[in-house]
Amino acid sequence: MLRSHTCGELRITNVGQTVTISGWVQGVRDKGSLLWIDLRDRYGITQITIETDNASKELVEIARTLGREFVISVTGNVTERYSKSDKLETGDIEIYPNKLVVLNPAITPPFTIEDETDGGDDIRMKYRYLDLRRNTVRKNLELRHRMAIETRNFLDKLNFLEVETPVLIKSTPEGARDFVVPSRMNPGEFYALPQSPQTFKQLLMVGGFDRYYQIVKCFRDEDLRADRQPEFTQIDCEMAFVEQEDILNTFEGLVRHLFKSVKGVDIPTLTRMTYADAMKLYGNDKPDIRFDMKFVELNDIVKGKAFKVFDDAELVVGICAKGAAAYTRKQMDELTDFVKRPQIGATGLIYARYNADGTIKSSVDKFYNEDELKKWVSVFGAQPGDLMLLIAGDENKARKALSELRLEMGSRLGLRDKNTFACHWVLDFPLLEYDEDSKRYHAMHHPFTSPKPEDIELLGSNPGAVRANAYDMVINGVEVGGGSIRIFNKQLQSRMFDLLGFTKEEAQAQFGFLMNAFEFGAPPHGGLALGFDRLCSLFGGSESIRDFIAFPKNNSGRDVMIDSPSTIAQAQLDELAIAVKK
Ligand code: AMO
Repeated sequence: MLRSHTCGELRITNVGQTVTISGWVQGVRDKGSLLWIDLRDRYGITQITIETDNASKELVEIARTLGREFVISVTGNVTERYSKSDKLETGDIEIYPNKLVVLNPAITPPFTIEDETDGGDDIRMKYRYLDLRRNTVRKNLELRHRMAIETRNFLDKLNFLEVETPVLIKSTPEGARDFVVPSRMNPGEFYALPQSPQTFKQLLMVGGFDRYYQIVKCFRDEDLRADRQPEFTQIDCEMAFVEQEDILNTFEGLVRHLFKSVKGVDIPTLTRMTYADAMKLYGNDKPDIRFDMKFVELNDIVKGKAFKVFDDAELVVGICAKGAAAYTRKQMDELTDFVKRPQIGATGLIYARYNADGTIKSSVDKFYNEDELKKWVSVFGAQPGDLMLLIAGDENKARKALSELRLEMGSRLGLRDKNTFACHWVLDFPLLEYDEDSKRYHAMHHPFTSPKPEDIELLGSNPGAVRANAYDMVINGVEVGGGSIRIFNKQLQSRMFDLLGFTKEEAQAQFGFLMNAFEFGAPPHGGLALGFDRLCSLFGGSESIRDFIAFPKNNSGRDVMIDSPSTIAQAQLDELAIAVKK
């Protein structure tokens, strides 16, 4: 070993010992007669002190050549510090070296290896191995490691088996776009990388494994955001001989265990909400319920007062922002601009202030007198000092825009503390959603999700109204996981593919292996997958999952460090029988 101790380990009790530590030079301060080196590794920083008049000439010479990020090894005596530092865990001691070896010099790094670095996002991504040396990044990956260990401990105790499923699979038209891999041995044919191990875990249930999990990479070629990467990790799980309730309880148990063991936080039993209520009360299937601010529908009291915007709207819906009546004109303009942004899509924002003195002033006073506005106060349950914010329009659009405004107000009013965790289930998702562009139904979760038995009779007459035994876990407005009870009967699965617009032949070609397996004694089963990166970022208090992935991709799906994706040689293309359009 090139070290007897780490750079974070030595304490006052080690004084008098001769030790060897190795690491990276964080910095050197040369005051002439005294020279200090801060030596860093994964565990901490230790100060090396050299009295240049007393140390060997050779050692001082080497010390004076050191620069940031040099890799060195130091042997010396642990000594109690005269002026102690409470900033470092090793701040009570320092090492007086008698040997200093440069293991590898370093060129000047393009940014400082500090918690608050001077490096921008792009440069840190390009030199990710240097970024990984920073405490903040390392701590995130340590958290991720702890989460994985605790997940395995918890599931192992419950008899779950971790089974690996293949990475080269088959492309299917459902879900997001696939990443595909050409097959040299089968010219013109392609594998796909799995968007999830969904069908394999179901086949493991048919195979009698009954409790499966895998911490597994999944690949989706979709537009990227802060909480989406093209390759990401799931805690993927499946159970046989269970009903929805069993799955909810098991994975609620897992998440509560993670909160307790990793963060020391006791979270209450997860509350539950139907999809229909989530949409009605929050305009969103993953509501952030750290704060209330539920939607209030106003059609009954605002229509028929000659205000065209409201009269023409399918829905007038609003929220009551507690204590925001005193918002300035400028703040109101900002909110109006916010809802009118194309990605939010509202045509405008109407508001009424219930002032602290009891008066009510609205942006539509021309149409609504004080008596009318008192009705608003009543349906909102507003108190003096509150601000009522209303959006009108097409029902879905109005709800979507108000949902964004609700989150914005939650943030502005400080109601979205990252150290508060509101975890809940959203249940009873619709089985199907109609897509206007392709003029067909799509599976809202995936095609293997079971309709609720009581809704099966609607499959023929009103497919859009059929609810599924499907559920999402939501924490602080983030969809952390989702799953469902599965279809395990060939006829029902085949009917599902009919509804999704597959011909019998297409269904057989794409998913015949699964439907055939259902004929050989498939047990009732269901499961879910938790987004591991998202869970880690929530635990770590960050919005971006990139911070919790050792080597993430940027928002264009590029790894700028290894410069991928990249072109390949013509010979390689030829071998794969691929012609690239120039
Ligand atoms: P689903 O598609 O809902 O379900 O995915 C499960 C969870 O994975 C996370 N997730 C992502 N995280 C980062 N980047 C992405 N691009 C990304 N896409 C999804 C989310 C999501 O809730 N096979 C089913 C699960 C099942 O039915 O058992 C599935 O994959 O947190």
